[in-house]
Amino acid sequence: MLRIAMLGAGRVGQVHARSISQHPDAELALVVDPIEAAASSLGATHGAPWSLDPEDAFADASIDAVVIGTPTNTHIDMLRRAVDSNKKILLEKPIDLDLAKIDAAWAELAPKAPFVMLGFCRRFDPSFHEVRERVAKGEIGTVRALRITSRDPQPPPADYLSASGGMFKDMTIHDFDMARFQLGDIVEVSAVASDNGLAAFRQARDHAQAIITMRAAGGALATIVNSRTCAYGYDQRLEMYGDLGSLEAGNFTATSVRANSATQTEAAGPILNFFLERYTPAFQAELDEFVRAVREDREPAVGFADGRAALVLAEAANESVATGRIVKVG
Ligand SMILES: NC(=O)c1ccc[n+]([C@@H]2O[C@H](COP(=O)([O-])OP(=O)(O)OC[C@H]3O[C@@H](n4cnc5c(N)ncnc54)[C@H](O)[C@@H]3O)[C@@H](O)[C@H]2O)c1
Repeated sequence: MLRIAMLGAGRVGQVHARSISQHPDAELALVVDPIEAAASSLGATHGAPWSLDPEDAFADASIDAVVIGTPTNTHIDMLRRAVDSNKKILLEKPIDLDLAKIDAAWAELAPKAPFVMLGFCRRFDPSFHEVRERVAKGEIGTVRALRITSRDPQPPPADYLSASGGMFKDMTIHDFDMARFQLGDIVEVSAVASDNGLAAFRQARDHAQAIITMRAAGGALATIVNSRTCAYGYDQRLEMYGDLGSLEAGNFTATSVRANSATQTEAAGPILNFFLERYTPAFQAELDEFVRAVREDREPAVGFADGRAALVLAEAANESVATGRIVKVG
């Protein structure tokens, strides 16, 4: 049984705590959050002990691993403490907002050979995973293009937005990682963005929507279409297009029931509303990979270098919006 402490009992902490509790080979050993109501209620939901202080997790030798789901600006400190106390680590994205800080931390931590898996849960989405496997088997021939649509149903709260590091580092980072997952290394990034004239985004100096185009080292082109709002829910689709055809992964509805009448054909209910619902199987598979990789004493499927590479693409997109130029990525 892998004894795991959940650091952070907010939005993502709740999803991970559920996956840990449901996993047959994992145990939710501790829930930590400085907000007592958050820690105690998530602990109570899963019958787990809780604490206000992450040091309780780091100091407990019976705890094997930590999931770091605290705010982004705490990740590097949590990572350091977790490595120093010999914990296996599942670290939420992004690693940090500052590449120099990431590199300095890794230079210090890498010699200790820590086990760090990055929380790019979408790699474990069964549909996106299937697309990648079928492309690898040659089903669509030479890949020419990837199209990712990724729209959130509503923006995060204003205080989260202002500290998030901006759309590309906070939200698109998942899509940059998905592009790397499907196409490999990216060598060119270009982006346009808009605040849609909305005060909340203007005040946060952030974007309400963006369109990013990229070129992969292998020659394929990619488009990411992002929006922080979407009237019809959490729009998460992708298409790989090749010489022999395409493979598409679409949105999910709660059931497969479709209505037909004089005014509608194959009408479905609304698509699943947000990441809690849409990516539940992906979060479960991610946790399963974490547990297995620890057990098998091997590298996890997605690691620190992937977290860094996605951030490099986010910085390139920021530069492209600021300069209006295509940015080469080394
Ligand atoms: N993989 C995903 O799909 C996904 C989704 C959402 C958020 N995230 C990432 O997860 C992280 C948290 O995001 P969120 O939306 O859950 O935020 P949140 O604000 O909902 O929750 C963060 C929680 O951490 C707690 N916290 C703050 N300092 C702490 C500390 N020192 N020790 C323990 N807990 C502490 C806060 O009190 C809060 O309850 C961010 O880095 C975000 O980018 C990832």
